[in-house]
Amino acid sequence: MSQPLVLVVMGSRSDLPAMEGCMAQLKEMDIPYEVRVLSAHRTPEAVLELSEKAAENGVKVIIAAAGGAAHLAGVIASSTVLPVIGIPMQTSALGGMDSLLSTVQMPAGVPVATVAIGKAGAKNAAILAAQMIGLADPAVQKKVAAFKKAQKESVLAGSRLQEAE
Ligand code: RP5
Repeated sequence: MSQPLVLVVMGSRSDLPAMEGCMAQLKEMDIPYEVRVLSAHRTPEAVLELSEKAAENGVKVIIAAAGGAAHLAGVIASSTVLPVIGIPMQTSALGGMDSLLSTVQMPAGVPVATVAIGKAGAKNAAILAAQMIGLADPAVQKKVAAFKKAQKESVLAGSRLQEAE
């Protein structure tokens, strides 16, 4: 397998069903990725070790998904020069508003590019990562362009709900 360009980290195995679309989208665009399950609260040392070494290991973008008191993306952002995309996971207690606020409300100086709650965010995180990598990688940018074109064509193909009378 090729060198991972995207590191996907999720806080728990329970996040996996919501995250499948992220990995599927990266795969569709032929972007090599690595997936790890690590928690900012349960395994903080391992999170820091991973994020501190990611850049020297050739990773270009880190995607971090967590729910509840979702500090994973922020902790990762504190310890890497790489761009970090945060995905707030849906929660049963507060519907993901808890995850959203704790992912997006970072202090000045430590940005986390936060996408939508849950599955839409998971897919968008992969596309955003591809767009970032595409700035310096024409082959990846071509994949993004092809994705956008196919998406547009598919929407247009189904746009007529009813024939004119
Ligand atoms: C977060 O807490 C995880 O990212 C997950 O979304 C949530 C619940 O985790 P589990 O209790 O299911 O492991 O850290």
